[in-house]
Amino acid sequence: MVRRWLLRCLVTVLTVIGLLALLWPPVLWALVVVLPLAALGIRDALQREHTVLRNFPLIGHIRYGFEGIRPEIQQYLVESNIDAFPIEREFRSLVYQRAKGELDTRAFGTQRDVYKVGYEWASHSLAARAPEGDPPRVRIGGPECTQPYESSLLNISAMSFGALSDRAVLALNGGAAIGGFAQNTGEGGICDQHLESGGDLIWQIGTGYFGCRTPAGRFDPEAFRIGAHRPAVKMIELKLSQGAKPGHGGVLPGVKNTELIARIRGVEPGETVLSPPSHSAFDSPRGLLEFVARLRELSGGKPVGFKLCIGRRTDFFAICKAMVETGITPDFITVDGGEGGTGAAPLEFSNSMGMPARDAWVFAHNALVGAGLRDRIRIIASGRILSAFHMIRALAIGADICASARGFMFSLGCIQSLRCNNNTCPTGITTQDPVLTYGLDVEDKRARVARFQHGTLHAFMEMLGAMGLSSPGQLAPHHIFRRVDDLRVRTCRSSTAPWSRASCSMMTGFRTTCGRNGTRRAATAGSWRRSTGSMAATACARRSRKPPPPEASAQSAESRWMRIAARAVTIGRDSSSSCSPSAWSCSPTGPRPAREGAIRPTKEMSAAPRLPGSTRVRAP
Ligand SMILES: Cc1cc2nc3c(=O)[nH]c(=O)nc-3n(C[C@H](O)[C@H](O)[C@H](O)COP(=O)(O)O)c2cc1C
Ligand code: SF4
Repeated sequence: MVRRWLLRCLVTVLTVIGLLALLWPPVLWALVVVLPLAALGIRDALQREHTVLRNFPLIGHIRYGFEGIRPEIQQYLVESNIDAFPIEREFRSLVYQRAKGELDTRAFGTQRDVYKVGYEWASHSLAARAPEGDPPRVRIGGPECTQPYESSLLNISAMSFGALSDRAVLALNGGAAIGGFAQNTGEGGICDQHLESGGDLIWQIGTGYFGCRTPAGRFDPEAFRIGAHRPAVKMIELKLSQGAKPGHGGVLPGVKNTELIARIRGVEPGETVLSPPSHSAFDSPRGLLEFVARLRELSGGKPVGFKLCIGRRTDFFAICKAMVETGITPDFITVDGGEGGTGAAPLEFSNSMGMPARDAWVFAHNALVGAGLRDRIRIIASGRILSAFHMIRALAIGADICASARGFMFSLGCIQSLRCNNNTCPTGITTQDPVLTYGLDVEDKRARVARFQHGTLHAFMEMLGAMGLSSPGQLAPHHIFRRVDDLRVRTCRSSTAPWSRASCSMMTGFRTTCGRNGTRRAATAGSWRRSTGSMAATACARRSRKPPPPEASAQSAESRWMRIAARAVTIGRDSSSSCSPSAWSCSPTGPRPAREGAIRPTKEMSAAPRLPGSTRVRAP
């Protein structure tokens, strides 16, 4: 009907113009507009790709126009300060203000509903203190490491050249050099822009081994040795998985794969590069640790760790067990949350795969404590860390250091237009199109990157002082409160094992570590008790001296986290536990009982015609 209507309109307009032209010839100029529209309408009506345009020629474009600017309409007209996703406007504005060095205070009080379930806060102290000196640094490097790294508390999380533009990489590295923190290269290898400004680097090795890869795509030890010996490379991170797409492998869309990127990665330009979902250099937890030890040796003793998003918890237990058995430990583990960001990932993976960050940090911390390994390994937390409170919370519930990806993207000027995967980033951050990257001024942006990191750390130290603490090592789960329903609030201690974290269990391991690995933890034990002096602290410390035996823990387990820690204790001590260090997960012994309500294949299902390539389900 619309097609007929369009045709009639066209004929009418052309007839009217023709008649008017007899009286007043300049009216023929109207054809400059009418003819292209007529051609577009006819093309819409004849094409077969878009049903909407075929049925509604010309006017169907209005719908596509709005669809194209939906993120902008949402962002500028619809969203409130605190309900936008992935990152709320409130935090985006905070990063912009800190990055620009503008006033970052707020007027009139919080906009959050503090009585809403899920609201969290940190507890302050009446013995608040002014922050003193520079934010402390954390030493990363266990006993096998000969070149430990003194890390800042907040570093740039992994983002590869390829996902990021050359100018974005340059600005981030420049910021890292100014601020004295580290930039993670991401899995795309090291490029000139990573080295130009002299910022510290964490070299990430993904499943594609970009930068240390044989032509067949396998790990090349010699290429790795050369890369790792670069002075800028301070640590090496083996990427096992990433929160936004765990088990998927990296994706570099073909449109972003320029000649330069292809040369650095050793692939063909223009083709979509999919890194394999898992590593070819090892295939078991023990293999992973042997590979870590090999990387450490090849790098000349630099700290080597791995990054993962927690999936099957048994996989992590199996790694812990392999550490206990082999005595090989990574120097750090980066724990990424399922809510993490990415340049490109399938929606199902981003939405529905991987443990959320806070659960994962607590889990990894407790598992390592239980296995008696926590004192040798630093935990780096990543996943929506944009403010000082986010850092305080992450450190309180298990982490030692924080890493942020999207926080630093905002400091570069990202406006969250969500086009990182199609090479049309309007701010030149995640595009390889020179027309768009032109606008990103490296000089200005590197200063912003440094100011954001510095401003956030400054706020972190202020919060720490307000909590009456003098060192990040004193942060403990009981400092963080959460509203769990209308009438109840809980500290995070009830959701972590009560003998976990610095205030309690960490003392057992870290007390000895402090002396060895620096002063951070040593200051903890003394000053924390002095500053708070509470009975709870003393009780906590008493309990910490001896983690409960696994059976006792299991019996008295009040929370799932206690059971996790208890299980890790079992794994650490019991060599007969079913978690195997030579396989990725505990294989269940014996047949698995069918779950209540589970669908069992019927004879009819078995007889149903098969789709090509599918396997037939057998009837019981
Ligand atoms: C554009 C972009 C590219 C990324 N590239 C990588 C990568 O190469 N390797 C990796 O391990 N993680 C990568 N990530 C994930 C981040 O390192 C980080 O784990 C995740 O975004 C969570 O941190 P955030 O919430 O601070 O962004 C990338 C994230 C973004 C946004
Ligand atoms: S502004 Fe660029 S980097 Fe930021 S979300 Fe949009 S496309 Fe991605």
